[in-house]
Formats: sequence, C-alpha cells, structure tokens
Amino acid sequence: MRYAFGCDHAGFELKDVLIKELVAAGHEVVDMGTDSAERTDFPIYANKVAQAVSEGTVERGVLVCGTGLGMAMAASRYPGIRAVSLSDCYSARMARRHTDANILCMGARVVGVGLAVDLLRAWMSEDFEGGRYAERLAMMRGGYEGGHPD
Ligand code: RB5
Repeated sequence: MRYAFGCDHAGFELKDVLIKELVAAGHEVVDMGTDSAERTDFPIYANKVAQAVSEGTVERGVLVCGTGLGMAMAASRYPGIRAVSLSDCYSARMARRHTDANILCMGARVVGVGLAVDLLRAWMSEDFEGGRYAERLAMMRGGYEGGHPD
C-alpha cells in the first residue's frame, strides 16, 4: 500500500522511526516533509497529505504534530478524508474497523516513540468491516441534517 507521511517541527522527532516502521511492514512511503526541527506550520503538511489521499495518489496517510489535533482538523476538510488523532491502541484498531480512518494523526508531545509505533502498528494492521459501518459512513456523507446514505 502507498502511504503519504507528513509532520511539522513538533512531530519531526518521530518521522524517521515511523517511516521505517511503514517500510518494514512492506509499504511504500511518500515523504511530504517537514525535513527539520525548524518551526513551521502544520497545515502545510496536513494539506499535502490529505490532498494525496483524497485524490487517490496514495491510499493512506500519517501525520504527526505536537498534539495531532490540528493535523486531524486540517486533513478532514478534504473530500473523502477521515483523519483521526489517536493516543490509545484500542481506538487505533477501531478507527480502521468501524470508521475506515484513512489518515492517522498523532501528537509527538502526547505519545512517546514506543506508543507511537504501537499506534501505527495497531492502526495499519486492521481492515474496515464494511456492512452497517459502511452505511454509517454514508450517513456521515449525507450531512449533519439528513444523514441519508448518498
Ligand atoms: C505547534 O506548536 C503545535 O501547535 C502543532 O504541532 C500542533 O500540536 C497543532 O495541532
């Protein structure tokens, strides 16, 4: 599977270890920066990764900032993006199984390197269950008022 990876300065410390983890799991990784710990702005990288996933250039994305929150908010503005910021492995598994989350966001100031790797492993190893969960995603696409599938 093809993944896009992005981080800001706060997430930079986790970049190499997470990319290596993705590659070790057999995935191809497109590195969309940042490339140093110099201060930058998280939406730059959220936008790049979300656009790549939204347009189908890659299947999934991983974004790391200080909290994971800004990345998830920015990425989720793109069509078809379901970005989640996670810090526990149960939610990481369920984010794939029940909500087909296609971008994993993490906060480097929230999780340590060990938990970050575990979160990534938990998230990337699960599949979407479809069925009634697919119907619920369709209801989400239907909007906050109607919620009718497509
Ligand atoms: C940068 O200081 C910080 O705001 C950013 O990394 C992220 O946590 C935003 O959600």
